[in-house]
Amino acid sequence: MAERTKVAVNDLYKIFGYQPKKAYQLAAEEFSKAEIKQHTGSVVALRNISFNVNEGEIFVIMGLSGSGKSTLLRCINRLKSATYGSIEVNQKDIMTLTSQELIELRRNVFGMVFQHFGLLPHRTVLDNVRFGLEINKVQGEEANNRAQKALERVGLSGWEGSKVDELSGGMQQRVGLARALAIDPEILLMDEPFSALDPLIRTQMQDELLRLHQEMQKTILFVTHDLNEAVRIGDRIGILDSEGTMVQVDTPEQILLNPANSYVESFIGDVDKPAVIRIESIMKHPSCTIEQSATASQAHSAMQQNNTHFCFITDNGKLQGIVRFEDIANLDVRITDYMHKVTSVDPLTTIKECVPFIIKHHHPMPVTNREKELVGEVQQDQVLQLLEEKGVAANAE
Ligand SMILES: Nc1ncnc2c1ncn2[C@@H]1O[C@H](COP(=O)(O)OP(=O)(O)O)[C@@H](O)[C@H]1O
Ligand SMILES: [Mg+2]
Repeated sequence: MAERTKVAVNDLYKIFGYQPKKAYQLAAEEFSKAEIKQHTGSVVALRNISFNVNEGEIFVIMGLSGSGKSTLLRCINRLKSATYGSIEVNQKDIMTLTSQELIELRRNVFGMVFQHFGLLPHRTVLDNVRFGLEINKVQGEEANNRAQKALERVGLSGWEGSKVDELSGGMQQRVGLARALAIDPEILLMDEPFSALDPLIRTQMQDELLRLHQEMQKTILFVTHDLNEAVRIGDRIGILDSEGTMVQVDTPEQILLNPANSYVESFIGDVDKPAVIRIESIMKHPSCTIEQSATASQAHSAMQQNNTHFCFITDNGKLQGIVRFEDIANLDVRITDYMHKVTSVDPLTTIKECVPFIIKHHHPMPVTNREKELVGEVQQDQVLQLLEEKGVAANAE
């Protein structure tokens, strides 16, 4: 089934200040943000941005402070208006909405979670979640029930009566999340929601968000300045540079394996690549395979031809085992006489998870799909190289 586009951003520019037209022209001529500011007094916060967000995905917008992340979120829910370009939400250009549709959009389509929680500190947990509902005209018993349910989802049952300012940061952000979830929005916008939290709590909240996403399958736009966070939770990541340009939109793995430019590269040094990159992204076509009906002689020449020391044995494409070149002493027997059992891995396994296998064996690691068909192999060199890179990056600091 084709993925449904939830948000489509096309050629978007956001310019603050009184000379947007002049600033736009200068931006088209590739003048820098600083130069344009000097010439016009206007700030080009977002420059020629295009990307789509699919229904149900977690799309992460990543960039340093001032790169335009918050501005981009606010253009998408139309708290700010795009200066040039278009944004479609549910296939509808949000600049053409009637004022009633706009209210609907902000209330029901989008839910927002902020870095500094945006809660009422002296009110109770329940009040805070109810408050979000009341703005949306949900009252009384129904508001109570929905608030309770949302609090349950984020693990805050039993805390309804506590005052928000008595809670830890992590718990406060759970309240913020519950408030957004209670409205049951189609799209959740999260602006650095975990940036103010301690590292340990932050990781817990990331796991929690992934669990909630599994359960609810909501479309999420998540802003962060931390690439580690981005690769942990993003299905795809859009990276904004300091000029407000989106320099790469890709899966976490592709960003780590093929950074678009030196700006992106500068972030990936301290990401734990083996924990993110999956076998399917680095596996190669099996270098030597032969069906189990073959003779040792046929396998022997196949290995010679392919210049390998190992050959995978298959039965109708399904992996049966492996044969070592040096084990073959008699060319006239069936190849299965020399076959050893071999452990294979799933294409979705991360490199980190395969390290024990790599260390233990001296042959390429076979990769099989659910039907146990051999779909690829991974050479030890490839894995060791990736592990080494991480080591080099860590030592360089
Ligand atoms: N209301 C505004 N007026 C003028 N400039 C603004 C305004 N809001 C944001 N900016 C500028 O736009 C750029 C992007 O800001 P912002 O979206 O807040 O970045 P981020 O969220 O990535 O830190 C910055 O250069 C900032 O100074
Ligand atoms: Mg911001």
